[in-house]
Amino acid sequence: MDKVIGILNGMEYTIGDSILELSYLIAALLFVYGLKLLSHPATARTGNLWAAGGMGLGMLTTLLLHKDAGGNGIPLTNVWIILAAIGVGSAIGWIIARKVKMTAMPQLVSIYNATGGAASMLVALLEYPNAVAGDIQSILVTVLGLIIGAIAFSGSMIAFAKLDGRVGDIMKPFMTYINLVLLIVTIGIGVYIIISPNQPSEMVWAIYALLVISLVYGVMFVMPIGGADMPVVISLLNSLTGIAAAMAGFIYNNQAMILGGILVGAAGMILTMLMCKAMNRSLINVIVGAFGGGGAAGATGVEGSIKEIQLSDAAVLLSYSQKVVVIPGYGLAVAQAQHIAHELDALLESKGVEVKYAIHPVAGRMPGHMNVLLAEADVPYEQLVEMDDINPDMPNVDVAIVIGANDVVNPAAYDDPSSPIYGMPIIDAHLAKNIIIMKRGMGKGYAGIENFLFFNDKTRMLFGDAKASISKLVSEIKSM
Ligand code: TAP
Repeated sequence: MDKVIGILNGMEYTIGDSILELSYLIAALLFVYGLKLLSHPATARTGNLWAAGGMGLGMLTTLLLHKDAGGNGIPLTNVWIILAAIGVGSAIGWIIARKVKMTAMPQLVSIYNATGGAASMLVALLEYPNAVAGDIQSILVTVLGLIIGAIAFSGSMIAFAKLDGRVGDIMKPFMTYINLVLLIVTIGIGVYIIISPNQPSEMVWAIYALLVISLVYGVMFVMPIGGADMPVVISLLNSLTGIAAAMAGFIYNNQAMILGGILVGAAGMILTMLMCKAMNRSLINVIVGAFGGGGAAGATGVEGSIKEIQLSDAAVLLSYSQKVVVIPGYGLAVAQAQHIAHELDALLESKGVEVKYAIHPVAGRMPGHMNVLLAEADVPYEQLVEMDDINPDMPNVDVAIVIGANDVVNPAAYDDPSSPIYGMPIIDAHLAKNIIIMKRGMGKGYAGIENFLFFNDKTRMLFGDAKASISKLVSEIKSM
């Protein structure tokens, strides 16, 4: 039935093999198409489904058509074990994805990165003894898969623990040197394994030593990185997971795994670089800079005083404005105030006020956080304006309402060279004619520093939970 149609690398090639390879090609195309759709909020959900479809196709055809070197398919018992594992994994993934809060999404991404890294690490660990001495190419990808997968695994677990508040930052200057030594030892053992003339089956001790040292390096690498830099690190670890998966793809000579891994690796790296750019930092500075770890200095000698605004005054000010810009931040997500914020903007627009949302690339706690929240509340995409596009118009804005944002509107980024956020691009709320800031108290933002904007002459504070404050404001405007 499964007719031989040719010989490739000394092995018989059947129709089933061709279908399998074709399905991998289709899967790869679906990944690329899915990624393309993921680039816009309106199509992102569909993009996810297309890419998942590609992965599903790859899994199905592998189960049905994969053969080992002897030409045997996957034994039925193994098929059942694999199906059971897929079932359990899918059920756990489904439950977690439904339950997770939007603000805990970075933790979830970390866990997913960790599992991806662990999978590639295990593939390398299991396949290494089967390699043949002198086959540098296959030993190289196995060693790289093990090192990168192990670092991605242990590093992501630490990233998860830090984001979830279970582990704090531990930054001592000597750690940079320890990390350098660990990295050199890791590379040293890796090179030794690759060039060793011994059979891999006799070198199992070395591969386990490499595993342990890589795991330790992953922990030590993430441990000192400052809290505010965690999203960049998560994106970097995500990229590493992709590269590790590509290495596992090379081990099995599986085109879909190679391409899928490379896509994840490249996308993760591009996102990492974009986030560094949005914070005006280099990747090296993020890795050794210990930014936003709680003890940040900056904003000494702030001048001015804090002034509050009454609800009725805020209602009048907003209703009689022509241009209002809402600047959302992490606090909007915490308060889940996106729906009521949309109610406020619709109410103001019904009174002839032009309302836009200014989106900072790192507002909130994950890339696209504000876009996702506001899309959930059905705020039209045309109302969301990127930082670079809205900033030139800020001097014409009658009222900037800052809802639960802090670091992303802090003019210390321009004015205070000693500030850890100095040089980070911000939304120029300080240029608006009036500024209303909604937050619960004088709590600091992620970078842990004072905000110059709160002391600006044009600024007035509306203290309280964002959702409660906006609800009261909406009622006040309606009763005018
Ligand atoms: P933050 O600077 O973190 O400030 C959030 C503010 O929200 C706090 O000052 C807090 O003040 C207020 N808040 C908290 N709960 C609130 C509630 N229920 N109602 C009203 N206000 C509330 O936020 P941001 O301006 O969005 O900046 C993001 C920061 O996180 C940046 O430093 C960024 O680098 C970092 N970061 C970004 C990402 C990505 S990729 N987006 C990921 C991780 C970290 P009160 O306590 O006084 O209310």
